[in-house]
Amino acid sequence: MTGFETLAIHAGQEPDPTTGAVVPPIYQVSTYKQDGVGGLRGGYEYSRSGNPTRTALEECLAALEGGVRGLAFASGLAAEDTLLRALCAPDDHVVIPDDAYGGTYRLFAQVLQRWGLAHTPARLSDPAAVAAAIRPGQTKVVWVETPTNPLLGIADIAALAEVAHAAGALLVVDNTFASPYLQQPLALGADVVVHSTTKYLGGHSDVIGGGLVAADAGVAERLAYHQNAMGSVAGPFDSWLVLRGIKTLAVRMDRHCANAERVVEHLLGHPVVEEVLYPGLHGHPGHAVAARQMRAFGGMVSFRVRGGEEAALAVCGRAEVFTLGESLGGVESLIEHPGRMTHASVAGSPLEVPADLVRLSVGLESVEDLLADLDRALG
Ligand SMILES: Cc1ncc(COP(=O)(O)O)c(C=O)c1O
Repeated sequence: MTGFETLAIHAGQEPDPTTGAVVPPIYQVSTYKQDGVGGLRGGYEYSRSGNPTRTALEECLAALEGGVRGLAFASGLAAEDTLLRALCAPDDHVVIPDDAYGGTYRLFAQVLQRWGLAHTPARLSDPAAVAAAIRPGQTKVVWVETPTNPLLGIADIAALAEVAHAAGALLVVDNTFASPYLQQPLALGADVVVHSTTKYLGGHSDVIGGGLVAADAGVAERLAYHQNAMGSVAGPFDSWLVLRGIKTLAVRMDRHCANAERVVEHLLGHPVVEEVLYPGLHGHPGHAVAARQMRAFGGMVSFRVRGGEEAALAVCGRAEVFTLGESLGGVESLIEHPGRMTHASVAGSPLEVPADLVRLSVGLESVEDLLADLDRALG
């Protein structure tokens, strides 16, 4: 069993041994009868430490990312927090992207900084800038998003793995925007992959979840220890929803990418659009790297609107098929204004986003309806 689609449907999901149920049951249970003290059935003793539905998701995540172990969390941020507090200690340092999800930046700037973890933003498309931001001996993690949220910048994962490893640091890649179908960071040298499974993996805007997949058994062991010790685990029903979403990830991603390409072409010709940000464009500075490390360029598209913030807000307000809302990666198309919405927490920081920026999560509706809606929204 090696094909991506086969793994997505079957990895970790053998028919249930009790009934033959072809999808893993939702084990909505907190504790397990022991056959004598310490006599655990299948290793389960308490659902924070392990739950069979969560195990199925964790095994599937590990298979899709090609790692030794996967772990499922209550949210993407819970996964990030657990990872950082497992791999770093007070007085350590992390290099972070100069463009990243606002909540990730807030975790570094408002929460982990008080805990004693320092950070430096660097331009990830420039490995020399990342190397210069590293503090030898103190930097434990280089944190990568690629494509970045919301500017869709591209980082060369293999090059940054070399930079991080030369300094004795681990390379962590937030693979939320690409999903494992489009990009597999561990195969390119990354040490840990992070996901907000809320997005493409879940795929239906009905669950909040997070995931970690590690390449190395020792790192995985530390992460698993902290997952149990810190407790921010995915519940059984949420794990089941993400597993259900994953089964169709490949076909969904193919259509997300195809629809996004049509949307990009359409936006490029529009007089109100100042600039389109999409790694599939030949003129995008990260295009060659993206073409090398991604299967296709994804379903996220950002663009800048002539007329500044007011004009960008008006575009968001006029869209109808593109629903005005935060998040991404679901079957329904979403539109948002990062400066006022997902990235409000980076205002005034080095990660501040342009006020005229609009971000689209291109969904799976009929593409003609999406294009007509954009025409209406652009005015
Ligand atoms: C790239 C990226 N990483 C992490 C997160 C955080 O995930 P969650 O909202 O599931 O906590 C998000 C959320 O939007 C995201 O876009």
